[in-house]
Amino acid sequence: MCGIVGYAGPREATPILMEGLSRLEYRGYDSAGLAVHDGADIRILRSPGKLARLAGLLEGRQLPGTLGIGHTRWATHGPPSEQNAHPHASGDVVLVHNGILENHAELRRALEKKGRRFTSQTDTEVFAHLIDEELGRRPLEQAVARALARVRGTYALAVLSRREPDRIVVARSSSPLVLGLGRGENLVASDIPALLGHTRDFVFLEDGDLAVLTAARVEIRTLAGEPVARPTRRIDWSPLMAEKGGHKHFMHKEIHEQPRALADTLTGRILHGRADVRLDDLRFEAAELKALGRVVIAACGTSYHAGLVAKFLIEWFARLPVEVDLASEFRYRRPVVGKGDLLVAISQSGETADTLAALREAKRLGARTLAVCNAVDASIPRAADGVLYTHAGPEIGVASTKAFVTQIGALFLLAVRLGRARRKLSPEEAGRQLEALAGAPELLEAVLRDEARIEAVARAYAQTRDFLYIARGANYPIALEGALKLKEISYIHAEGYPAGEMKHGPIALIDEHVAVVAVACQGESYEKMLSNLAEVRAREGQVIAIGQAGDEQLGALAQHQIHVPRALPSVAPMVNVLPMQLLAYHIADFHGTDVDQPRNLAKSVTVE
Ligand code: F6R
Repeated sequence: MCGIVGYAGPREATPILMEGLSRLEYRGYDSAGLAVHDGADIRILRSPGKLARLAGLLEGRQLPGTLGIGHTRWATHGPPSEQNAHPHASGDVVLVHNGILENHAELRRALEKKGRRFTSQTDTEVFAHLIDEELGRRPLEQAVARALARVRGTYALAVLSRREPDRIVVARSSSPLVLGLGRGENLVASDIPALLGHTRDFVFLEDGDLAVLTAARVEIRTLAGEPVARPTRRIDWSPLMAEKGGHKHFMHKEIHEQPRALADTLTGRILHGRADVRLDDLRFEAAELKALGRVVIAACGTSYHAGLVAKFLIEWFARLPVEVDLASEFRYRRPVVGKGDLLVAISQSGETADTLAALREAKRLGARTLAVCNAVDASIPRAADGVLYTHAGPEIGVASTKAFVTQIGALFLLAVRLGRARRKLSPEEAGRQLEALAGAPELLEAVLRDEARIEAVARAYAQTRDFLYIARGANYPIALEGALKLKEISYIHAEGYPAGEMKHGPIALIDEHVAVVAVACQGESYEKMLSNLAEVRAREGQVIAIGQAGDEQLGALAQHQIHVPRALPSVAPMVNVLPMQLLAYHIADFHGTDVDQPRNLAKSVTVE
């Protein structure tokens, strides 16, 4: 998500921090800032917008000193602005943070009661106050460790204290942080590319590590103060490889980020004890949710497919009718929408012109509106009455992957909230569903571990020119998404169909040249899927089946099988889309297409 750089050494810190941040620019950000210790005081400079704007501010101002931290922010709590940009300060403490603090609202309330004043809307500022509160006469390192014992959530932190001009204290939990070892200087960053201009020797911190960096040394301990040894690794990546975290393409990196991204979507939102969810920006009272007569979803492309999955989830959990519209159609069909309806606009970028227009039209007609969005403070969330951010982090590959899975995760939470508010979902069932959702990131990991098998299937079908994707129920949108991914990045013809529709037309296409990718997991409609596959085989079609390991019945019908772990029907779509993404990715990679920037496509479609 956001980027962190820190430097302790004999050289001026500012140019090193600026250069490091510029190497993280490719990830996307909306504001930036620096803090540099000159031996007596810490000076902070922050700016919304791009680094060039911060560089412009630096021209008129001096930020001298050889110890400093820098940050590029990608907004999660609070819109992009100077106040919300990092570093944040409280008393003698100045820090930058990546990640999401789960219990920030409670902590903030408690700190405010004690008279502490906040100047930003960020969760990060809570860290600054907590550490300052713990600082007293303690060394910074101890104050950081004590403050971290009071927080829940994910973080990579780099902290300075006015009183200790020789050191940066850093810590991580779930958000990455690497130390770069130099000669007579040491550095820290959230990602390797930021430091490749200075060193090739890296130490990767692990969850629960806290490290102190000075020019002369780095010391790593646990939060309890026990020293720990972490190996030094030599990284010989080219800068381009480093940007992609060692992956060949951003899309591949983003596919692999999905377990983490989904966990970030869920962080702090599942109230385990209460079998409910907390959605801070939703801004609708339970009574209002209870009174709703209908949900109408409008979105485009992959986001539309997430909407189709949400229809199942909302109808299952909340027994509320859901209509899903392509936003480009919605706005021109004189929709019957109004009071009592909730229009949900789903968009990764938050800027898609058709989706924004659909939302505005529904609002004009009297509906309440909710944006499910990745980009904070984009036009769509700004125009909506309520917001549900997906927290997927920047998505650079044009073909959407982690945005999709996190949209479904966020919509799952919404469906539970609706179900509970409307008393259609019992606490027991809500608890069971939320437990399954919380376990979903692990299921995604399991699919990713099986990538070699999927790559082998991709190799076997790389020359096939026609693909049909079929599935039933909540997996049907996944068939649509699988087909969309393949055509977008490999330019191979692919179509998604509900398997039950096969007989009504598409079966005419089947012959030995057509590959049929089918989701056939055990459970509801499994037998029906087997019958559909038997029909495909009878016409010599090639079957690639996504199902459970050890399923011999399926094995007998399929030329190739891809395994997915068992999951509740509500969670299965999130899991089953991963093989689709990987299959499309590897087929495209065999063809050598520009996977991250496929021809004719743009990441954000701001025109009709
Ligand atoms: C497909 C893809 C597009 C987008 C669509 C909507 O991989 O990325 O189909 O999903 O253009 O974009 P957002 O979600 O930004 O509104």
